[in-house]
Amino acid sequence: MLRCIQCGHELKADPWVLSCPKCGGLLSSEIKEKPLAISWSLFRTRRFGVWRYKELLPRIKEPVTLGEGGTPLVKIGKKIWVKFEGANPTGSFKDRGMTVAVSLAKESGVKNVICASTGNTAASMAAYASRAGMRSFVVLPKGKVARGKLAQTALHGAIVIEIEGPFDLALDVVREIAGPDTGLYPLNSLNPWRIEGQKTLAYEVVDEIGVPDWIILPIGNAGNISAIWKGFLEMRKFGLIRRMPKLAGVQAEGAAPIARAFKEGRKEPLFTDNPKTIATAIRIGRPVNWAKAFKALRESQGVAEIVSDQEIIDAQRKLGRMGLGVEPASASSYAGYLKLLKGDVMGEEDRIVMIATGHALKDPDSSPPVESIRALNKEEAINKIKELIS
Ligand code: F0G
Repeated sequence: MLRCIQCGHELKADPWVLSCPKCGGLLSSEIKEKPLAISWSLFRTRRFGVWRYKELLPRIKEPVTLGEGGTPLVKIGKKIWVKFEGANPTGSFKDRGMTVAVSLAKESGVKNVICASTGNTAASMAAYASRAGMRSFVVLPKGKVARGKLAQTALHGAIVIEIEGPFDLALDVVREIAGPDTGLYPLNSLNPWRIEGQKTLAYEVVDEIGVPDWIILPIGNAGNISAIWKGFLEMRKFGLIRRMPKLAGVQAEGAAPIARAFKEGRKEPLFTDNPKTIATAIRIGRPVNWAKAFKALRESQGVAEIVSDQEIIDAQRKLGRMGLGVEPASASSYAGYLKLLKGDVMGEEDRIVMIATGHALKDPDSSPPVESIRALNKEEAINKIKELIS
């Protein structure tokens, strides 16, 4: 069953109905009754990953899967972990949502899928659509998509439309053209089935370490924060957990429509038509899921934080030196954490999980330049290395 988060209207689940027929609001998939016999011990009889929690996902006969989810939770401090979503098949958390939404689309006979993207959704959709035998169309903000993501999108055979303007304009195109008339199925995070898959990130954290005190994550179009909060709400509803974490949502200084408004105590975001940040994945001025994000931040008694591009790059380098290669948007979790630690929001005793949403290989241009030592032959190379270690 689907429920409108705005007016509460309830309707039967239908993959093609992606906004409320009454008021146009965002839809959320609701599981009315506790699925029979679910428990952590049942889940643990299965492989770690999205489909481990299949009773809490839409029923699919044959999932379109690449083995997504089940990503490492890496401990980087006494009570601090990084959920390394870069370990997903296409290198970002988007794969969790794509396996569910593409599976449903396939069962409904969809042949063509479309999305707007800052890059990761495009790469993920292209891969899953190819696996399902569908054609994919991606609308990208020209010149603002990281190199690795473009390479993946091409490799998986998507048809690329580049538009002059930000992601938000690309999404306007998708919202206008997608639908049963054109047969183009939209796979942006306003699609509630993407959110269903992405909520499994919350289940996995709890499966491994129980409920943390804080979850810190970047906000772009605000799908992921909505998904993670939904995951926790469901776990509580079905008796799988008793307490709830707080959420900390991080945005970049030049693209902070939600974080800025939330910090100022506003009820609505401060949209911008000209978002700017080095973290191109979250270069978004008008996040479609803002209402779900505000709800998640409010209900969890969470906080929003704003970080500069310099803070993002510094955080990315620091994580790199811990062995964690993440793209700039993902490093904003850590940048936000370092900033929040200075205030009185988080304490030393808090158990904190940061979500590293995408892999460093996605955006090779954001890594530091290689400072190499030149050698013309074997002897010179050996001598230079000897000098360096002496
Ligand atoms: N981190 C990365 C690496 C992302 O690619 C995105 C979103 C986010 C964080 C933010 O997640 O939108 O759910 O709040 N990327 C989208 C895309 C917009 O098109 O790949 P969100």
